[in-house]
Amino acid sequence: MNTYGLIMKKRNGGMLDKEEIDYLVTGYTNGTIPDYQMSAFLMAVYFQGMNHEETANLTIAMADSGERLDLSAIHGIKVDKHSTGGVGDKTSLIVGPILASLGVPVAKMSGRGLGHTGGTIDKLEGIPGFSTGISKEDFIKQVNDIGLSIVGQTANLAPADKKIYALRDVTATVDNVSLIAASIMSKKIAAGADAIVLDVKVGSGAFMKTLEDARLLAKTMVAIGEMAGRKTIAVITDMNEPLGNTVGNILEVKEAVECLKGKGEERLMAVSKTLASHMLMAAGKADDIKEAEQSVNEAVASGRAFDKLKSFVTAQGGDASYVENPDKFDKAQYTYTVTGKELFLSKEKTAAWEMAYLTSCDNQEIGLASMILGGGRQTKESEIDLTVGIILEKHLGDKITKSDIIATLYANDMDKLSEAKERFVHAYTLSDEYKFNNNIVYEVITKDN
Ligand code: URA
Repeated sequence: MNTYGLIMKKRNGGMLDKEEIDYLVTGYTNGTIPDYQMSAFLMAVYFQGMNHEETANLTIAMADSGERLDLSAIHGIKVDKHSTGGVGDKTSLIVGPILASLGVPVAKMSGRGLGHTGGTIDKLEGIPGFSTGISKEDFIKQVNDIGLSIVGQTANLAPADKKIYALRDVTATVDNVSLIAASIMSKKIAAGADAIVLDVKVGSGAFMKTLEDARLLAKTMVAIGEMAGRKTIAVITDMNEPLGNTVGNILEVKEAVECLKGKGEERLMAVSKTLASHMLMAAGKADDIKEAEQSVNEAVASGRAFDKLKSFVTAQGGDASYVENPDKFDKAQYTYTVTGKELFLSKEKTAAWEMAYLTSCDNQEIGLASMILGGGRQTKESEIDLTVGIILEKHLGDKITKSDIIATLYANDMDKLSEAKERFVHAYTLSDEYKFNNNIVYEVITKDN
């Protein structure tokens, strides 16, 4: 077997068998295959694709490149959740405490944000004292004690994916269904949960821009999860605008707190409750979606989910008084309010308008605006500023006038603020007619449908 021959085989549209994929993944992880050959292979996959069997073999090879976590010491059915990445997606912070308050153990390894997408670990680090790097023993003990722990991925969890993802990021090979499915599922399988609920995002702020692509990714991941013996469900949800009212790490933590106090934004709550309900069913704690939704609503309304958030923060060394009183969180130095007038003036066609509807936005641009403010990473090494970001006052479908406040931008650097503002203002499309598809949860994909 040689790497050159395998690159050529894939470039010419051939199918690789398990031994060939193992050879490439092992060789790249241990450094005997160089970056330039793996880059060429990834580009060949990008153009030629991989079938289900190849994708499954790639997933398992990456999952087995490091340690598989043994969660058998945790009592009950362990359910994990994963989002394919979006803007303003803070659902893990909401769903985790809800599930734990309903007696479902959640032992979750999460990632950091990259590019226009955010990551749960960065958000949690916005809580003073919170540690995302606790030992495996403490992680397991905490889930047995309070039902919830969220930690960063250990260096030895699917190390092949870490190395390959970094290469994909700089070789324009991220947005390929097989590579995304294998990347996500290798980590989920190695992380050891019994059941996995996937939030597959679709729209302008997601990797998958069309429902057709999102469905293909969802079906591929469900097939891989089931093949690996994990009950796997995928929910396809909208990412054509930021989820909820905030984008940016501490701002999102504060919003998650509001949600658990029963004051969450409608679309964010709809996604969070749908994911929580499917996780509850996967854990065998509800027979149907109606019963699951009732329990989830009850967990929030009774305050039990909020109490669970506080015990989770405390257990991981965080200062729960910030969750109790979110005004204590550090704030960015500068703010800028974007008005309707600025949106009207951003395009020749709308410059003289007095009112309009927000009909669509380039959500990736909004994510990038937050990244420019310092809330996201341009490269894996970038330092992020946890206090900056965007609070949205208006959503798609809303009618706006010149004097309406559309959003407030939070920054610690005036140059970054002015660049982010330009991006934000140009991200929206306006119309004089109401045109809006307000779908939020599109489809649920299981092994049977
Ligand atoms: N998230 C991942 O973990 N991997 C991908 O390839 C894309 C999103």
